[in-house]
Amino acid sequence: MEVIIAEADKLAGLAADAVEKLLRARPAAVLGLATGSSPLRVYDELARRHKDGLSFAQARAFMLDEYVGLPADHPERYRNVIEKEIASRVDFAPGAVQGPDGLADDLEAACARYEAAIAEAGGVDLQLLGIGTDGHIAFNEPGSSLASRTRIKTLTRQTREDNARFFGDDVGQVPRHCLTQGLATIMSARHLVLLATGRAKAEAVHQLVEGPVSAMWPATVMQLHPHATVLVDDAAASRLQLADYYRQTFADKPDWQGL
Ligand code: GLP
Repeated sequence: MEVIIAEADKLAGLAADAVEKLLRARPAAVLGLATGSSPLRVYDELARRHKDGLSFAQARAFMLDEYVGLPADHPERYRNVIEKEIASRVDFAPGAVQGPDGLADDLEAACARYEAAIAEAGGVDLQLLGIGTDGHIAFNEPGSSLASRTRIKTLTRQTREDNARFFGDDVGQVPRHCLTQGLATIMSARHLVLLATGRAKAEAVHQLVEGPVSAMWPATVMQLHPHATVLVDDAAASRLQLADYYRQTFADKPDWQGL
């Protein structure tokens, strides 16, 4: 696991560099897109690079998760968030961006279809991730099986409170259920790039990088991934025991290496 501590804009640039390098080497790459505020700077940077010629026309993308039951036109439905924040700002082909169907009559069948679609696309090459304050990735809340695949989950009170800011600060408006890629689904992606900023994430980041692998902090499963990159600002890094070592390692990193 590589840990890079830098300012938020620099982190976004590094993540965008990794996406750009992938797309230039493999235009038909499969991207994994995350919602939440953490990846927004990356999406801004990718939209800017698209204007400078970076093309997503042959690429495909899979979203991590979706609320169950939000109306199709609800602005906080993750499909609509991803459309607004990145898909509509670059040149993905129609239908190239997919997400779990939180409005399906048969949610279990929708989850199975989603797993099949990811597999049929050849798997995700680069997965962008954020992290919840309780250590969830996608919507894999504490207690999630480390072997889980896409399924329905119940959101914790903490996550619903954290996300209430997107619902007029009314936690009652935040859905109770979601469909989410499982931890094993996420672990199947070939490169994981997680972004976290702000002091509220410091404990989750400490557990993710330095804690024991445990379903209590689901993101810790990433310690078992052969190619995981954790991009954090000073505040999110403030509880890391080996912060000085991570800083030194990044300062000494060869220019050619990339993420
Ligand atoms: C939601 C999303 C996660 C995201 C998390 C953190 O729960 N399902 O994918 O990582 O929020 O969000 P933020 O980046 O806004 O802190």
